[in-house]
Amino acid sequence: MGPQVERVVAFVARRTGTALSAQQRDRLVQAITTRAALEGLDTYAALVEGPRGATELLHLISAIAVHKTDLFRDEGQLDDLRREVLEPLARSGRPLAVWSAGCATGEEVATLLVLLAEVGAATRATVLGSDLSLGAISRAQRLTFSAESMRRVPPSLRGRYFAPQEGDVWALVPALAGRARFVVHNLMDTPYPSLAGRDRFDLVVCRNVLIYLELEAARTVVGRLGEALEPDGTLVLSTTEPLLERRADLVTSAFGRTFFYTRPGSKLATQRGASATSSSSLPAVRPSAPPPTASAPRPSAPPAPAPPLRLTPEEEGRQLLALALEWASEGQAAEETLGGLRRALYLAPKLVAARYLVALIHERAGRTADAVAEYRRAGALLAAREADLSHSFLNAERLASAVERALARLGAL
Ligand SMILES: C[S@@+](CC[C@H](N)C(=O)[O-])C[C@H]1O[C@@H](n2cnc3c(N)ncnc32)[C@H](O)[C@@H]1O
Repeated sequence: MGPQVERVVAFVARRTGTALSAQQRDRLVQAITTRAALEGLDTYAALVEGPRGATELLHLISAIAVHKTDLFRDEGQLDDLRREVLEPLARSGRPLAVWSAGCATGEEVATLLVLLAEVGAATRATVLGSDLSLGAISRAQRLTFSAESMRRVPPSLRGRYFAPQEGDVWALVPALAGRARFVVHNLMDTPYPSLAGRDRFDLVVCRNVLIYLELEAARTVVGRLGEALEPDGTLVLSTTEPLLERRADLVTSAFGRTFFYTRPGSKLATQRGASATSSSSLPAVRPSAPPPTASAPRPSAPPAPAPPLRLTPEEEGRQLLALALEWASEGQAAEETLGGLRRALYLAPKLVAARYLVALIHERAGRTADAVAEYRRAGALLAAREADLSHSFLNAERLASAVERALARLGAL
């Protein structure tokens, strides 16, 4: 790759905060080469970085964008969100500002609107969807969804909130669609968006976005999202991307599969038994109460908080590994599973099963050098008998032989 292409690749990565995967890099190089064909790479590089480069940047972003999303993605987390955040917000009776940051093609915005309707708050709520990608936002604004994207929507909600259109497409009902707003916004850029005179949000949902960012970019974004919260506001990340460090600006609490981050001083945080003073970087966790069934009456008062159960980083890592395996088996994209596994390894570096799976994902994606390095680390942990083997189905013997076969397959024994 020539130095000018390298320069534009680095610029796009820096401007979007993206930790480029090998495939994203390849697609980006291809896009740069195609778009620079007319004026030449020197002129093109200067154009992209210059004051009129914004439109060109949007073109290049479309080459690296990963818009994988679904309506009702991660139902377990949505149950926690509804019970622990949306129901208390609905009881407050005030107008609500909600932001889906990195909303891709709008499925998360529609999901939030349906959940708000279910807790009786949709008519006084507005949900803002933002994304870096112009193509994604153009698609999101339609608030129409394919049958494939509808598959997780509970049947009881499907008929109530979605209207069938021609061609097996479903549209969010106008009463809810009218509560949505959309904007193209790069989370690396300030100022952050606001909603009809309000520049703070009661709830910010930013799921499966930080996973694609460089660590430092993710840190900056979390700080800014925290600043965008009302004092009693909540930030929700995906279950695979809990914050890995304690932050002074956010109070962490966790319920079931979900971590919530609340602006300090919040009444909600106190209600939830949050661990603001915890000495660990990890949140206090308690098991979820069973989700209410469709026919069950809604509780009139918040459930009494159960005593928090403190997890060690290793236990937290194992929990993340279990989740990543569960999602991989549900067909989640390998790159997202990889994000979950990496975070599990950050917390529990000796989790050998996670190392093996990371190597396997690299190998399948053609990243041979990364795969070999990770297989070797797994092999070394097993040989030194230092491996954390909490997943019995991937026991030491099976893993040792799988690692050996993989290294042989890659000619790296
Ligand atoms: C995998 S999708 C997640 C969609 C949705 N939040 C969900 O969980 O289903 C990630 C989205 O984040 C967006 N994104 C990535 N980097 C971003 C940035 N710097 N600013 C804003 N959006 C970004 C991508 O364009 C993509 O649409």
